[in-house]
Amino acid sequence: MPRSLLAALLCTALAAPLAAQQSADTVAPESATQQPSAAEPVGLPSYQALTGAALEAKAAGRPVEAQDWMVAAANPLAAVAGANILRAGGSAADAMVAVQLVLGLVEPQSSGLGGGAFLVWYDGATGELTTLDGRETAPRAATPRLFQDETGEPLKFFDAVVGGRSVGTPGTPALLEEAHRRWGRSNWQSLFSDAIFLAEQGFAVSPRLAALVQEDAERLSRFPATADYFLPGGEPLQEGATLRNPAYAETLRTLAREGAAGFYAGPVAAEILRAVRTAEGNPGVLSAVDLALYQVIERDPVCAAYRAYEVCGMGPPSSGALTVGQILGMLDGYDLAALGPQSAEAWRLIGDASRLAFADRGRYMADSDFVPMPTDGLVEPAYLEERGMILDRTDALPEEGVAPGEPPWDHAFLWADDASLELPSTSHISIVDRYGNALSMTTTIENGFGSRLMAAGFLLNNELTDFSFRTHRNGVPIANRVEPGKRPRSSMSPTIVMQDGKPVLVIGSPGGSRIIGYVAKSIIAWADWGLDVQQALALPHLVNRFGTYDLEAGTEAGALAEPLSAMGFEVNTRDLTSGLHAIEISDRLLGGADPRREGIALGE
Ligand code: DON
Repeated sequence: MPRSLLAALLCTALAAPLAAQQSADTVAPESATQQPSAAEPVGLPSYQALTGAALEAKAAGRPVEAQDWMVAAANPLAAVAGANILRAGGSAADAMVAVQLVLGLVEPQSSGLGGGAFLVWYDGATGELTTLDGRETAPRAATPRLFQDETGEPLKFFDAVVGGRSVGTPGTPALLEEAHRRWGRSNWQSLFSDAIFLAEQGFAVSPRLAALVQEDAERLSRFPATADYFLPGGEPLQEGATLRNPAYAETLRTLAREGAAGFYAGPVAAEILRAVRTAEGNPGVLSAVDLALYQVIERDPVCAAYRAYEVCGMGPPSSGALTVGQILGMLDGYDLAALGPQSAEAWRLIGDASRLAFADRGRYMADSDFVPMPTDGLVEPAYLEERGMILDRTDALPEEGVAPGEPPWDHAFLWADDASLELPSTSHISIVDRYGNALSMTTTIENGFGSRLMAAGFLLNNELTDFSFRTHRNGVPIANRVEPGKRPRSSMSPTIVMQDGKPVLVIGSPGGSRIIGYVAKSIIAWADWGLDVQQALALPHLVNRFGTYDLEAGTEAGALAEPLSAMGFEVNTRDLTSGLHAIEISDRLLGGADPRREGIALGE
């Protein structure tokens, strides 16, 4: 984004003191109802220098360098909120809460209290990796035919998305509380100060938010609460306009006071249920019981070996770590470093490894609490070596050559294949703190603006449309079909790359099922091609999931169109708007923020 626009955004942040010291108070309990007054000092003496350096680095294509801590997030105001906490001695988990609460305000189309998230945590004290699943769940009253019409035909995507039917039980509020309970050092209430302050005093609408509101105006106009907020007076919000969200501030005060219980029961819950169950034309079946019973689940991390690294992330119901791990595992036997990023041969290997991994993803990956899954087998080195041999050729795999494999598994289960559609939203947060902890979290309300329903100042997700709309194919069941209480398959890939038991790269992105390609490419660029973290994110994308090779428009990837076509790929040039945020950890910290989005990395 143009620097001047980013600077304008930050100016608003600077003009509005963020009550940094107050918000990052790690000792004294503090009332969340206390409001910073306009006369309070900014509280971060080096704030300007910090953000100035971050902006300069991003504009110049350089990583941001720091020693003690770093946060990389999709909006400068959110990154600043995280920096305020880290600077005052908070942990990465504390900072994540502050970042998420501000993101839910300033980037409401992407993530927030009404959505879900996956979190990967490296603990500096114990050396352990933990993953937390805060994915939305299908209501208990949902049936496998939730997204079919009366004749059993799948609904059109947006007919399913817009309204209450697609809304799953949000997981993000419970995840914030659980992460803070396990790893927090700061007072819970203090983590809310910046978000409350910005919600009440207002923030400048970012160029990206304004553009997306403009594009989506018709759908946003369908529900009065949503229309009032995003289309005040019937007109789309304008870039730079000051936007206040008193309803969100009130919800934040409730959560600051009562914890996640203030979300899953009481007036906030009642508002969510009212919005979902009375959504005109497309009501949903979410109930008070669904909200009351929501649980964050700790899951085993999924790790795959690649070169000298272990690439670790979120297992089922996310397909992220398994599919990223499969792509990398199949490529491990090929010398990508020698080929380099300009080589069509390198991209042939990456593209077809990705197609093979997506074939396995479509068949096997879903919520393993509901369907049997060969989770370990899918990333077993011997299996991936065997799958990697399929790439030992000179041209693109023919369509019929891209079939799911048979990973080692003690079940003889057969699933039908499934491919689903995903569109722009979602956000990734990478954080490293001064205690050696690292956090990678991808957070979403699924589609841009989710279900378009708003309750209590935030948008509700449409995560349930990540399920397969069909239940069977040719009489064979689909693993990712809707079931009551089940979590829809995700592609979110919050990742921590480990070397000799220590984290060396924290990374993730939005982008629907292209997330997998964005993350795999960035790891290859960093590990094999020696790019620094900012260059690795900025490197043009080439993504292949189901056969068509998507090349990023307006970039040097265009030079590969001809050789890849000659190899037999169907090439398609298009925008590929990832939102990668990454931190490299060595004797210093290097942060990168995707040049395709508004985010920054901040550190000291
Ligand atoms: O969980 C998932 O995989 C999707 N709901 C994420 C959606 C997304 O990244 C949209 N992106 N641009």
